[in-house]
Amino acid sequence: MCGIVGYIGNKNCVPILLEGLKRLEYRGYDSAGIGIINETDCKVVKTKGKVADLEKLLYNENIYANLGIGHTRWATHGEPSIENAHPHMNNDKTLFIIHNGIIENYASLKKGLLNEGYKFVSETDTEVLAHLIDHYLKLKNNLFQAVRYALNEVEGTYGIAVIYKNEPDKIVVARKGSPLVIGVGKNENFVASDVNALITYTSQVVYLEDGEIAEVYKDHFHAKNIHDEEIIKEIHEVDLSVDEITKGGYPHYMLKEIMEQPESIYNSMRGRLVYEDGISKLGGLQGYEERIANSDRIIISACGTSWHAGLVGEYMLEQYAGIPVEVEYASEFRYRKPVINSNDTIIFISQSGETADTLASLREAKKKGALCLGICNVVGSSIARESDAGVYIHAGPEIGVASTKAFTSQLVVLSLITLLLARRKSLNLLEGQEIIKEMQSLPSKVERILKQNKYIKEIADKYADCRNFLYLGRGYHFPVALEGALKLKEISYIHAEGYPAAEMKHGPIALIDENMPVVFLAIKDSVYEKVLSNIQEVKARKGRILAIVNEEDNHIDKMVDHVIRVPKTIDMLQPILSVIPLQLLAYHIAVKKGLNVDQPRNLAKSVTVE
Ligand code: G6P
Repeated sequence: MCGIVGYIGNKNCVPILLEGLKRLEYRGYDSAGIGIINETDCKVVKTKGKVADLEKLLYNENIYANLGIGHTRWATHGEPSIENAHPHMNNDKTLFIIHNGIIENYASLKKGLLNEGYKFVSETDTEVLAHLIDHYLKLKNNLFQAVRYALNEVEGTYGIAVIYKNEPDKIVVARKGSPLVIGVGKNENFVASDVNALITYTSQVVYLEDGEIAEVYKDHFHAKNIHDEEIIKEIHEVDLSVDEITKGGYPHYMLKEIMEQPESIYNSMRGRLVYEDGISKLGGLQGYEERIANSDRIIISACGTSWHAGLVGEYMLEQYAGIPVEVEYASEFRYRKPVINSNDTIIFISQSGETADTLASLREAKKKGALCLGICNVVGSSIARESDAGVYIHAGPEIGVASTKAFTSQLVVLSLITLLLARRKSLNLLEGQEIIKEMQSLPSKVERILKQNKYIKEIADKYADCRNFLYLGRGYHFPVALEGALKLKEISYIHAEGYPAAEMKHGPIALIDENMPVVFLAIKDSVYEKVLSNIQEVKARKGRILAIVNEEDNHIDKMVDHVIRVPKTIDMLQPILSVIPLQLLAYHIAVKKGLNVDQPRNLAKSVTVE
């Protein structure tokens, strides 16, 4: 997804912008560019390709400037090309703009601008903004006001940064539906779509809210709303080290993040378990516990991997807290007319806290008066800020596009919420303490699984040539089957489907022959015997079977081709362990195929457009 970075100060902006763009690469992009303004020149350099290609171009140009903006673009309007890459500019080539988001009424705006004589060189919606701001500059002769007037005409979403040759002392930034932060330095300031881009330079940040516009100078900034009213913005201290967002010796972020799970899982529950009372303590839900426990219904809204976490949450909450739960794709939830009552609680799960569909579904739900809770990883993200209450998962920055440690931490937080509510219902002290003990043993059990990394790689090598996969599981392991299949297709581009194992006989069984690998989640839980029958059905049709089984289970070995063992825990927590071999399997298959695991094609880490 697109990334924004900008600098104003006394240093050369070029290396700073490149460094920031590199930190945003993980979001996924297809072209990159920067625009600079100095005393003698204003210039844009763009490439269809990687930031490293842009760096080579800039090296040859030998540019020095104290003001500049940079962008990584992920195509929405118009194919990836140099013309469509950002920054875009006015016809005089004096105003540069970078933009994340989508201008929905760009066609009608473009028509008006064409009539005025503006010439377009790209197919993007962003170029419309460049000309529209230029149009108002001619009327107002003031960049901030021109941006404000232009944005008043825009429908859609944006995070923008604009610089202008005639006002070279500032960057104007604005936000609606696409994140934008200001990094506050000493005699220098930064702007970015993500704090990761700034962290090398400053830990002091200001989060713009929707509808806010700011003028950022080298030694101060000020913000207004779209109606030109002054706004006082608070400066926040972010607690991320550069080390936390680098690969730490691993070949890929994804592997680093898989390997971090003993720690990230521990961090998600640290200080939140009260063994004596057999309960969890969640500061972010304080004061809301009774209301949540007495909800008529809980709805979970999310996308992608977070949606899979929501499905596991449904099983947990219904089993232990006895509250009816529905899990919704945020993209569906926001556009259909869901029946939402004021006595419903809606949980929005999002690693980034910025996913456009999830954020929009939160805003819809808030209008209906339901209690809205966020489960997010990124502190200060939009969903975290706009929810009534919530719980951070504290997994640390997740950079790999395929979500891994955020998923297991989301499950930990859903277990904590389940425990909190269940103890207000029928769960007794001893049962609560049993769950806590099992939760506390998770990090060391995860370590035992990760020790099998080499063995899992050997298995992955044997399956890397397959073109299709089926993942089957029942009960708590149906969502895990979905997540295993998603991991594989995301990074290895192998077609994979997850199914509830019993559904196999209603269609997918037709696909099974000796070329079809089937990954079974065959865990010793309440549906174990049923899964064994499903394994027999696949075996009878000569399918290749890889089974995820419990450590002490030797029964399945002779029925299947390969087994990977995971420690046993209670059913509710078992997905946290059984998903890990599936993450490693997908990772090693993709690496064996020579693919770019951290930046899979066509995917973005944070999908901030529809
Ligand atoms: C993208 C990512 C997925 C992620 C999904 C939801 O598609 O590639 O890994 O699960 O967005 O993201 P969120 O940040 O809302 O959890």
